[in-house]
Amino acid sequence: ALIGKAGHRHFMLKEIFEQPQVIGDTINAFVSASTGAIALPDLPFDPAKVPRLTIVACGTAYYVAMVAKYWFEQVARLPVDVDIGSEFRYRDTPFEAGGVAIFVSQSGETLDTLEALRHAKRAGQHIVSIVNVPESTIARESDRVLYTLAGPEIGVASTKAFTTQLTVMACLVLAFARARGTISHEREAELALALREVPARAAEVLRHDDAIQALAGVVAESRDALYLGRGTAYPIALEGALKLKEISYIHAEGYAAGEMKHGPISLIDDGVPVIALAPSDALFEKVVSNIQEVAARSGRVLLISDADGVARLGSKVRWSIELPKVDPFVAPILYSLPVQLLAYHTAVAKGTDVDQPRNLAKSVTVE
Ligand code: G6P
Repeated sequence: ALIGKAGHRHFMLKEIFEQPQVIGDTINAFVSASTGAIALPDLPFDPAKVPRLTIVACGTAYYVAMVAKYWFEQVARLPVDVDIGSEFRYRDTPFEAGGVAIFVSQSGETLDTLEALRHAKRAGQHIVSIVNVPESTIARESDRVLYTLAGPEIGVASTKAFTTQLTVMACLVLAFARARGTISHEREAELALALREVPARAAEVLRHDDAIQALAGVVAESRDALYLGRGTAYPIALEGALKLKEISYIHAEGYAAGEMKHGPISLIDDGVPVIALAPSDALFEKVVSNIQEVAARSGRVLLISDADGVARLGSKVRWSIELPKVDPFVAPILYSLPVQLLAYHTAVAKGTDVDQPRNLAKSVTVE
């Protein structure tokens, strides 16, 4: 069937606005209709006996792997290695018997991810993949496939595939945590509820579209931009920077906020917008001091936080966007949306080809 833009100017914007729907569809595939609990996807191994997880992907999907590392370690108490496909496939990793390797790919055809999968398979690992295209090579070669129900993604810069990949990971983490006995029933019910509420919260986040469009005018005039976050907001900072680079051609870096003092702080002046992703979670006060370091060097900060965070820091930053307050577990899914919109509107302001950025391909099937 011919896929249209449904009244949107670009596929990317249409796909950003589809997220409440497709995240909901993806969650519903894992939810038990009777109890509302996340149902354990049936897996060809016992999660309680898995010694170690390896998660491999390329591009945007790699940031899903990074978020998953924080989640699996904290919630399922499982050590996790993450890597990009092109490195992992040539690394001489010592694999543990009974290990599980997870591959994340929208297209299911990215060559480096596929070859990484084959490498892990030869080493006797159980292969799980998170894929959007069912009839893809990665799906075919996996022991178990968990599908994102994002629907076809046309924009080269991934948006709805990314947040649905995070959604599937979150469900998988809960399944592992339950099987491994690392989560109480109450906490599991809380997290399942927080996940089921993501679509409604995502719709609220998208209401900031106009405000973000206005800020994009500032970013569009900059040569560089810096994205900061800690914990699971760190990979989202990397994703925000990647998205901006890909479609607006503005140089951007994502950094762990605490690492800024070891490098990028030297770049800070009033010409470099600093986008701080800071949900009011356990690490919030740490991010506050990083933001103060930026402000002290006349850096202009765009704070993306919730009501508590904006109340604490709003007066110290140049701009702020207030997102709904959610359980920190699901925050990385929601905080993806404003960085997508910021990249999108900046690219539109610069007049670049948003859906087909120069030199990039939707699916990279060569080495
Ligand atoms: C290309 C796309 C990215 C994508 C990456 C991995 O670089 O432009 O948006 O994240 O490939 O693609 P995959 O299909 O494996 O998720």
